[in-house]
Amino acid sequence: MTTDQIPAWSPADLHRHLHDGSRFSILDVRNRDEFEAWQIEGKLPLQTLNVPYFDLLELEDEDEEIAAAVARAVPERLKDSLPRSGPIMVICGQGHTSGHVAEGLRRLGYQAFNLEGGMAAWGDHYEMRVVEESQRLVIFQISRPARGCLGYLFASGGNAMVVDAARHTGIYTRIAAERGWRITDVFDSHLQADHLSGGLEMAEALGANYWLHPYDSIEPTDLLPATFSFHYLEDATTFTLGEVSVRALHMPGHTLGMTNLLLDDRYLLSGDTVFIESIGRPDLGGRAKTWVPLLYHSLQRLLALPDRTLVLPSHFGHIREADDLGCYRATLGALHSHNEGLRMFDRGPAAFSAYILESLPEHPKSYDDIRRVNTGLLQVDETKAGELELGRNRCGLSHREAGQD
Ligand SMILES: [Fe+2]
Repeated sequence: MTTDQIPAWSPADLHRHLHDGSRFSILDVRNRDEFEAWQIEGKLPLQTLNVPYFDLLELEDEDEEIAAAVARAVPERLKDSLPRSGPIMVICGQGHTSGHVAEGLRRLGYQAFNLEGGMAAWGDHYEMRVVEESQRLVIFQISRPARGCLGYLFASGGNAMVVDAARHTGIYTRIAAERGWRITDVFDSHLQADHLSGGLEMAEALGANYWLHPYDSIEPTDLLPATFSFHYLEDATTFTLGEVSVRALHMPGHTLGMTNLLLDDRYLLSGDTVFIESIGRPDLGGRAKTWVPLLYHSLQRLLALPDRTLVLPSHFGHIREADDLGCYRATLGALHSHNEGLRMFDRGPAAFSAYILESLPEHPKSYDDIRRVNTGLLQVDETKAGELELGRNRCGLSHREAGQD
């Protein structure tokens, strides 16, 4: 049996099983640092074993088949830790080595299978969910499950807009083409630090307008301006899209230029201001103490919106935050009672500030370079882009529950 014939899940299969809470375990054969930086999370806890490939086996000679070497090594090295019954998904960086390991395990009677394309393919996998679909308005939420990133495509009257598209923009243009929509405007809610934006490139390719708040066109580490021109997205900038209105609300705090979009007075595309379980961290610009009051005032403004407003964030912290349909959304009223950051807001500015400053997660090293790419100050190839984006986003504050960013 070649590795092509080994049973495998595609990233879409994996997402479905994670969302459904299927029972399976994972054998991750990546190096320890890669494993520690980024793991697969399910709605239910997954039994995950990390055994780097090079610790798992030593080939008897250069010609030994990898699967045979795995089958030889496993009884001695792994037999007590691998579950004897139940499916085992084997993963590696690109899905090649894991295929051989899965094959070796199957020769020993394990129900092993491969993850097609490995963590690289999982990291670049996207899902689409319907938030609303009526004659007046269609809203799709586009998720990148491995990274916890969310973007939006919404349309009315044959025209469409896009918010917070990641660098793989095909899913947006494909859906728009299938629906016969013309994408007229593309937005970034803020200067993204955790992922490379596809917004500008998509807008240029489509002849659409690209919008960003001018404060976020300055890279905050180098204090250098963006190298491209763009439309200024400012507070109260208002658009008419078919039958609905789209209004910009400047909500500084996570970044100075963070801007939310209020769609049809009912849907708040909240960017990284507020998520389902947490709120956007105010320290990525290196000035947490100065920016906390901005964040406080922005949340004050946000909470003045009606409780029925449906919040659609640009990130999630864990797949369990999705509703039964796989959509990440909640009313503002529900968030106000469950979201830790919003509950801390209710304790007033001093307690809020203390909470924020003690909840700040580490600042990933790659974020400065990602912002340089997103302001046009740095060019990277596909390999480097993948390296910069490795792992789950860390745009939210630390959640106090164990196991969350
Ligand atoms: Fe962010």
